[in-house]
Amino acid sequence: MEKKQFGMTAQGAATLFAITNTKGMKVLVTDFGATLVSIFVKDKNGEDTDVILGYENAAEYEKQTCYFGATVGRNCNRISDARIMIDDTQYILDANDNENNLHSGTNGLSGRIWDVKEYLEHKITLTTEDADMQQGFPGNAAVAVTYEVTEENGLKITYHATADKKTLFNFTNHSYFNLNGEGTAMDHILQIKASHYTPVKNEKAIPTGEIASVEGTPFDFRTPKRIGQDIAADNEQLRYGNGYDHNYAIDKEQAGMEVVAGVYSEKSGIRMDVSTDCIGIQLYTANFIHGQKGKGGVVYEDRDAFCLETQYFPNSINEPNFTTPLTEAGVEYHSETVYTFSLI
Ligand code: BGC
Repeated sequence: MEKKQFGMTAQGAATLFAITNTKGMKVLVTDFGATLVSIFVKDKNGEDTDVILGYENAAEYEKQTCYFGATVGRNCNRISDARIMIDDTQYILDANDNENNLHSGTNGLSGRIWDVKEYLEHKITLTTEDADMQQGFPGNAAVAVTYEVTEENGLKITYHATADKKTLFNFTNHSYFNLNGEGTAMDHILQIKASHYTPVKNEKAIPTGEIASVEGTPFDFRTPKRIGQDIAADNEQLRYGNGYDHNYAIDKEQAGMEVVAGVYSEKSGIRMDVSTDCIGIQLYTANFIHGQKGKGGVVYEDRDAFCLETQYFPNSINEPNFTTPLTEAGVEYHSETVYTFSLI
C-alpha cells in the first residue's frame, strides 16, 4: 500500500492514496474532496496511461473551478435560482453560476478534507459530515464514498448518504477522461444508450423540462461515433453549451446497474465502459478548460477530455417533469457507477 503527502491546503495537509488490482491498474485518490487524481491503465503497447486530467497537488485542486476528478455533492449539476422547496419549506443555496447553483456551490463537499474510514490494497472509503444548512440543504448528513479497483479492471465508485431530515442527495464524480492521456479527446468514439436528452433553455444551461428525442440531432450517440463528429454542427443547443454539456435520459432496461455508455480510442486501444444505477448521464466535452496547467506540466486545451457524469437529471428538484431526487430522513441514499477499462 502506498500513500504520500499531497501538499497543504487552507484546511490542512492532504494525502494521496494508491489503490491497485493484481492486473496492473492503479488509481490515485486524495482525501482533499475525495478526489480522483489518476487512473493508470495499460494501453495496447503495455504502457501505463493516466486516463484522467488533474493537477500536481492539493493546493491546485483547492483553487480549481473545473472540478477535475471531484466528488460533487450533496447535489451535482444545476439548480435554478439556487432555490429548492422541500415539503413547503424553501431553502436558499449559493448562487455561484449566474443566479443558479452549480455543483452545490462554493462550500461543496469537493472542497473539504475527508476522513479515511478504510484503506485496503484495492479499496478506500472516505467519509464526511455535512451539517444541517451548511450548504443550504436541510439535515445533518453523513456521506461516504468508496473507490474500489476490481480484478476486471473496473473502478467502482459507491456513494452512501443519510440525513436526519428529508433532503436532496445527488452525487457524481466529475473526472475528465482522455483515453490517450493527453491531446484532443474529440477523436474518441462514444456510444450512449439514450434515445432522449434534456435540452436547455439558454447558455445558463437549465433544462427546459422537455425530454427530447435525439433522433436526427447531433445528440444521437446510440450508434458509436467520434465525439467531435457533429460538435461544430449548426445547432442551438450546442451553441448554448459551447459544445456538449447536456444530460441524457438513459434508456433503462432494468432497475439497478447496467452499461449505459462506452468510449474507445483507436490510438491507445483503450476502451472504457460506464455502468451505473443512475437514470441520467451528463456528457460534457471540457468546453472551458483552456490554459489549465495540469499534471506533469501539461497545459490543457478545451476538448482535451470528456466527462460522463452519472446523476439525476439537472434541476430535477424544481422540474415536475423529472424524477424527484429526494431522500427521506433516516433512509439511505445509495448509488453506484463503474468505469471499466479494456483493450480493443
Ligand atoms: C457542467 C458544466 C461545467 C462543468 C465544470 C459540468 O458538470 O455541466 O457546465 O462547466 O461541470 O463546472
